[in-house]
Amino acid sequence: MTSLHNKKPEALELLRTRRSVLARNLTNPGPDKDTLRDIFEIALRVPDHRKLEPWRLILITGENRQKLGEKLAAIRAANGETEPALLDMERQRFTRAPIVVALVFSPRDDGKTPEIEQLLSTGAIGQNLQLAVAAHGFGSQWVTDWCAYDDHVKQELGLKPHEHIAGFIHIGTPRQPPRERPRPALKDKLSIY
Ligand SMILES: Cc1cc2nc3c(=O)[nH]c(=O)nc-3n(C[C@H](O)[C@H](O)[C@H](O)COP(=O)(O)O)c2cc1C
Repeated sequence: MTSLHNKKPEALELLRTRRSVLARNLTNPGPDKDTLRDIFEIALRVPDHRKLEPWRLILITGENRQKLGEKLAAIRAANGETEPALLDMERQRFTRAPIVVALVFSPRDDGKTPEIEQLLSTGAIGQNLQLAVAAHGFGSQWVTDWCAYDDHVKQELGLKPHEHIAGFIHIGTPRQPPRERPRPALKDKLSIY
């Protein structure tokens, strides 16, 4: 008989095998509305010292992916970039995957909780989100690049001055299963005190 204490959930297999899938290898369909909602609810269940909730998500789908891409191309053009292929790449940056989620780090100053703890909680949201996506049978990639750090992009997405983009998490159906990548040897990362 299994009990809560000895049950070996399928979750372990998922945790052992999860891999990112490059955004360009993510295609339709993305998760439907209900699945996305479940993914987001799971994502929000993270450790969070003093319950500050120093994070939020912005969903970017449909034509808004193109709209944001046009904005990126305009920013690069305004910065003197003229290479048509590069500007085109920016236009299409967010249409590679059917769904993009901007993860926003929104630190709060309660006079007690170091910002790094709030950033760690935000990172946990990203990982939880990717795990939930994988558990639902989809693939994802967490991407930053220049656009995560650009003030015009932050403004376009409605971020406040003190907020940061922790990443754009691309979600969709993998065109092919990702291959494993080398992982660090545990002996190099674990020491005994
Ligand atoms: C905060 C953060 C930003 C990242 N930004 C990029 C990026 O801009 N471009 C990229 O190719 N990978 C980026 N990555 C790495 C990928 O998301 C992914 O973690 C990496 O390819 C390793 O794959 P794995 O998740 O299968 O271990 C980023 C990861 C993190 C945590």
